[in-house]
Amino acid sequence: MPVYTYEFRSNIYMVVVNDIRTRLFESLWDIPEGVTYNTYLLIDDKTVLFDGVKNVYSKALVDELRNLLKGRDLNYYVVHHGEPDHSGSFPDIIKEFPNVRVVTTDVGLKILKNLYNIDFNYILISDYDELSVGKRKLVFIKVPWLHWPDTFVTYLPSDKVLFSCDIFGSYGVLTTSYWDKDYGDLHVSLSKRYFANIVSAYRSQVVKAIEKLSKYEVDVIAPSHGPLVSDVRKVVNLYLRWSKPEFESKVVIVYSSMYGNLEEAVKYVVKGVEEVGVKAVLMKVPETAITYVVRELMDAPAIIFGAPTYDANAFPYIGLIIDLMRIKRFEGRYVGILSSGLWAPTAESRITKALEDVKAVIEGRVSILGSVKNEDIPKLVELGRSLGIRANQLGSIKV
Ligand code: FEO
Repeated sequence: MPVYTYEFRSNIYMVVVNDIRTRLFESLWDIPEGVTYNTYLLIDDKTVLFDGVKNVYSKALVDELRNLLKGRDLNYYVVHHGEPDHSGSFPDIIKEFPNVRVVTTDVGLKILKNLYNIDFNYILISDYDELSVGKRKLVFIKVPWLHWPDTFVTYLPSDKVLFSCDIFGSYGVLTTSYWDKDYGDLHVSLSKRYFANIVSAYRSQVVKAIEKLSKYEVDVIAPSHGPLVSDVRKVVNLYLRWSKPEFESKVVIVYSSMYGNLEEAVKYVVKGVEEVGVKAVLMKVPETAITYVVRELMDAPAIIFGAPTYDANAFPYIGLIIDLMRIKRFEGRYVGILSSGLWAPTAESRITKALEDVKAVIEGRVSILGSVKNEDIPKLVELGRSLGIRANQLGSIKV
């Protein structure tokens, strides 16, 4: 089992599972880079475990905890968040350490009871509660809706460590190092995609949480996914940028094409975007996995959806992407609609309807019948130009 242990502060152990077997995180997001489940063990007068792992890795975690505890019992088990990528090992940990006291919130308790239906000892925390565990104390801070209502984090003042659970996490397994700085831009890229997929629906809560946590001096963020974060300022600033969001100067073109006609039309749209000096980011679906599409849409001020008509509807993957925008609250973007059909094109009206849910501002529409004709070309180029101009106006970050 791929479990690795790293003592990053005296008697504070990071116990990492590298998961390269899961194809879809949350059964939704492709993770070819894998993902980690990080737990942390603090050994003081009392022993404390922070979070767990996915259930298939339970035995490996319990074996490693036994190894690190060297015959001592586990006194506290802090469950920051009940999602089963962390709490899957909960029943095995309770079984192995029946006297342990679970530290959770009232909502967290309900989630754990609903998921696992077992009895255990617990302590319910309130905001800013402290717990002395010997020479060290823990401070619990609630950060609800990041990204479930139960979520809280733990600050360790003695070591200036913040155990942040999902927040400030990233995709990717740990191969050569436990630290963010050793992964450079790769860490930023994997953090951004993770943020877009997992956290972005709660961007306003992110800003509130960062404000709430700003009074604590933090040297190390210890998240539940990805490497330890030593460049705290950089990651916090990135989270603030993604939360606003600060838009990139780009037009994202999300399209499907069954037989290549709509794809041909996209080439002219791209020409229009590039004519005004803006980058066009092409996302053909389903060929491009939604994990990447959602990452690009998060900070796109201008988007063009391209869909053929399919069974008197818009091609279904485009509807799925717009629904993901609704779920993630990517609202108020400038949008162009590119559609196609042969005898009764209906894709445009279906997309228009779906876009009401995301409060999109429709900047332009072009519908083609079958293949691209000469008379279509200026309209396609103009669609690209108009969205490109919007991206230039709103995008503060050049790409
Ligand atoms: Fe990594 Fe929301 O669990």
